[in-house]
Amino acid sequence: MRTPVVAGNWKMNGTRASVSELLAGVKQGQPPSTVETVVCAPYPYLPQVEAALAGSGIRWGAQNVSEHAAGAYTGEVSVAMLQDFGCSHVILGHSERRSLFAEQDPGIAEKFVAVTAAGLTPILCVGETLEQREAGATGQVVEQQLMAVIQRAGVAALAGAVLAYEPVWAIGTGRTATPEQAQAVHAALRARVAQEDAAVAAKLPILYGGSVKADNAAELFACEDIDGGLIGGASLKADDFLQICRAAAA
Ligand code: PGA
Repeated sequence: MRTPVVAGNWKMNGTRASVSELLAGVKQGQPPSTVETVVCAPYPYLPQVEAALAGSGIRWGAQNVSEHAAGAYTGEVSVAMLQDFGCSHVILGHSERRSLFAEQDPGIAEKFVAVTAAGLTPILCVGETLEQREAGATGQVVEQQLMAVIQRAGVAALAGAVLAYEPVWAIGTGRTATPEQAQAVHAALRARVAQEDAAVAAKLPILYGGSVKADNAAELFACEDIDGGLIGGASLKADDFLQICRAAAA
């Protein structure tokens, strides 16, 4: 059995006041202990998140990190800095970083190596654009994104990782993949990992992301290979996020 994971991706949203209110609401609602609950916050709020979540059992993470260890990299944040605050997770290769900030598979693979070497949990995002889906290239696209990391880091590095399938056309659009569409891609991703290492594949949490809401989470999470969700917009409202966490426990 895989432990379900629900990770909130706040993206570039929040103020000190809204972070405080949101985390108070999430803590008060007590996400189920059988679900690994994570919130991924913008960098400046990480110390605030650390303090607010201390002792709560809710984990927290960043949305990106540098592949470099330290030094002359203006504007970057290292894995060691995240660890200094007790950060446990890092989202890597989100489609917004791929499309808006020109991140590519080789650089994402380097970040994956840096994060896993430090013992943090990467949440590696893969997903196709609408154009790629309509061209019938979904399987090929997500497999290429996944294999770039496996070839660089080795399949064993996936043992402590989380994979997230996020169709680009479903992110922030209100257009969710159907459970059948998502399950098909999740099963294909797991089968591809199994070709490299069946035991790693069996234990790998694969999250679905893309317009997951309180009212569609349960049917997605009921699918065999969907082990939880990566939640954008709905993670900014405590009640919605909690309902999604509860759907993952059911
Ligand atoms: P969304 O975002 O839930 O707002 O579609 C998901 C994500 O980008 O991780």
